[in-house]
Amino acid sequence: MQNETSKRKIEHIELALLESVERKEMNWFDEVILLHHALPDISPDEVDLSSNFAGKPVKAPIIIEAITGGSDLSKGINEALAIAASEFGVAIGVGSQRAMLEDKSLIDTYKIVRERAPDVPLIANLGMSHISTEKAVENAKAVVEAIEADALAIHLNFLQELLQPEGCREFPELFSNLVDISREVDVPLVVKEVGNGISGEVATLLESAGASYIDVAGAGGTNWAVIEGSRSGGLRRDTAYNFINWGIPTVIGIIEVRKHIKRAKIIGSGGIRTGIDAAKAIALGAHFVGAARPFLVSFKREGLDGIRSLLKRMIEELRLSMALTNSRSVEELRLSRRFVLTGRTLEWALQRNIL
Ligand SMILES: Cc1cc2nc3c(=O)[nH]c(=O)nc-3n(C[C@H](O)[C@H](O)[C@H](O)COP(=O)(O)O)c2cc1C
Repeated sequence: MQNETSKRKIEHIELALLESVERKEMNWFDEVILLHHALPDISPDEVDLSSNFAGKPVKAPIIIEAITGGSDLSKGINEALAIAASEFGVAIGVGSQRAMLEDKSLIDTYKIVRERAPDVPLIANLGMSHISTEKAVENAKAVVEAIEADALAIHLNFLQELLQPEGCREFPELFSNLVDISREVDVPLVVKEVGNGISGEVATLLESAGASYIDVAGAGGTNWAVIEGSRSGGLRRDTAYNFINWGIPTVIGIIEVRKHIKRAKIIGSGGIRTGIDAAKAIALGAHFVGAARPFLVSFKREGLDGIRSLLKRMIEELRLSMALTNSRSVEELRLSRRFVLTGRTLEWALQRNIL
């Protein structure tokens, strides 16, 4: 079971496992320092990590981000991710459902997530090219219904599309279609990037379009210029590699979006690799954090147990970071501004007047 879209997605999975896909230069988490609280007031076991995503309770504010679907390989990955999401009580997204719109026989490669994780928030997924069409609302409703999703994520992957040999260069009616989707699809709308970040100005537009969640998916983790560059040759490859350092680092994206939006919730993702990074993202203003590539790498190494170990470690590190900053709850960490900015992050924040 494979169409062109599924084949491309398998290539993406294989290439995403390469170490060179992580751009450490664009990961600015080291420039954010959490304020250490030396006098213990709470134990890590008292820290409350619980939250609520798309109307469903979660045990930790960590999201297994959109990765895959559309092939047998994807089905296996999705099944393991879903089992872990259910065990740990965290939200989970599926990868772009474009493949199942093109070939209905692929639905079960996504639906397996709902089957294995019946109680956690599940996020459907479509790309900007699949909503830049007259069928935008129809496509959006179809992908939500197919997997009984609790939310719908639309990914904005402009740079990736431009670097992809088969990518789109025009996105007609994108904004007005987002508005229609937010009005006509009856689950909350998440709008996300895929690794190049979201500015404050764009966040304002997305909020006005009706986005309930904005996932900054900034630079510093999975890098699509590397992935698409590796899939191409000649000039196209050179061009892709020249865009390796393009984008808004995740820590900056969170600060930008926090300053500009009024009611939407923020998901901080892109290069979050530890529970300490997660705590920093929350302290900067994120309500939730997400990761994608680490789950794929853990699955490749140790299957379901690898995913379990990763979640266990990240949750424990987040818990410890919260106790060490004297934060009893996710909301307390988010609102108390117990961080110091240094280096380029501070320069950016000052120049953009977003502190
Ligand atoms: C192999 C792979 C496939 C992905 N496919 C999708 C996708 O189909 N839809 C989407 O919204 N994001 C997709 N993403 C992006 C992630 O959801 C996430 O936004 C981004 O990778 C940043 O997180 P990370 O640095 O932790 O990987 C994919 C990421 C990876 C690694």
